[in-house]
Amino acid sequence: MKVTIIHGQNHKESSYHAGRFFIEQLNDVEDIHEFFLPKDLPAFCMGCYRCMHEGEDHCPHYQYLKPITKAIESSDLLIFTTPVYCLHVSASMKALLDHYFTWWYTHRPKAIMYKKQAIIISSGAGAGMKSTIKDIKTSLSHWGISNIKTCGFRSQAIHWNEVNEKNKQNIQKKLIHIAHSLKQPHITIKIKIMFMMMRFMQIKKWSACQKDYDYWKEQGWLNHKRPWKLYE
Ligand SMILES: Cc1cc2nc3c(=O)[nH]c(=O)nc-3n(C[C@H](O)[C@H](O)[C@H](O)COP(=O)(O)O)c2cc1C
Repeated sequence: MKVTIIHGQNHKESSYHAGRFFIEQLNDVEDIHEFFLPKDLPAFCMGCYRCMHEGEDHCPHYQYLKPITKAIESSDLLIFTTPVYCLHVSASMKALLDHYFTWWYTHRPKAIMYKKQAIIISSGAGAGMKSTIKDIKTSLSHWGISNIKTCGFRSQAIHWNEVNEKNKQNIQKKLIHIAHSLKQPHITIKIKIMFMMMRFMQIKKWSACQKDYDYWKEQGWLNHKRPWKLYE
């Protein structure tokens, strides 16, 4: 299995360690791509819409996005780790998700996403793990990923070595359970319905731009082709 792990922070503390522990529980990993934010994407989306109108390789930050995109596309499993910052994802993680907004159903979803699995790991000192996980889950669902597992945990600490042993054991137990429950991705009816709703919008020519419409047409999705048919 090929894995991409993206950390919403540069430091190696609670969410980092939980993510690495999770990988250690997988027994068929053949390739790991690892990214730290903001180190590997030190920029915010500027809202220039070049990705939308000209293509994602026209993003002013494409030099940073290119290796991340390549890793995501080639991986079977995507792992996102983030601390809770003010009840939400870190700004660096949000910046990454914003850079991929053209991957949303509304625009130009990638067929390859339908066969991927993802896990979102979030560490907060006390509260906000749910809303933080939702920030990432919303994007991944809109990319077309059906199989998304989540693990939010209360660190009650600033550093990993301050997390008490009992708490660490509970986190690890949860992650072991998730690692063992990974199975062949199953494309949910919800994801299919979302796709069909967006297809309807494209057919009606309610596309956000011509490039979106042309893309759906080229994929054959306005006719009988469906992205998940490649993997079912
Ligand atoms: C800017 C900032 C905002 C934070 N906001 C929250 C918060 O809203 N809720 C919470 O429980 N912890 C909050 N924390 C604490 C961290 O989420 C917590 O220490 C977490 O375990 C850090 O994960 P990490 O070790 O992977 O960086 C905040 C920390 C920082 C630096």
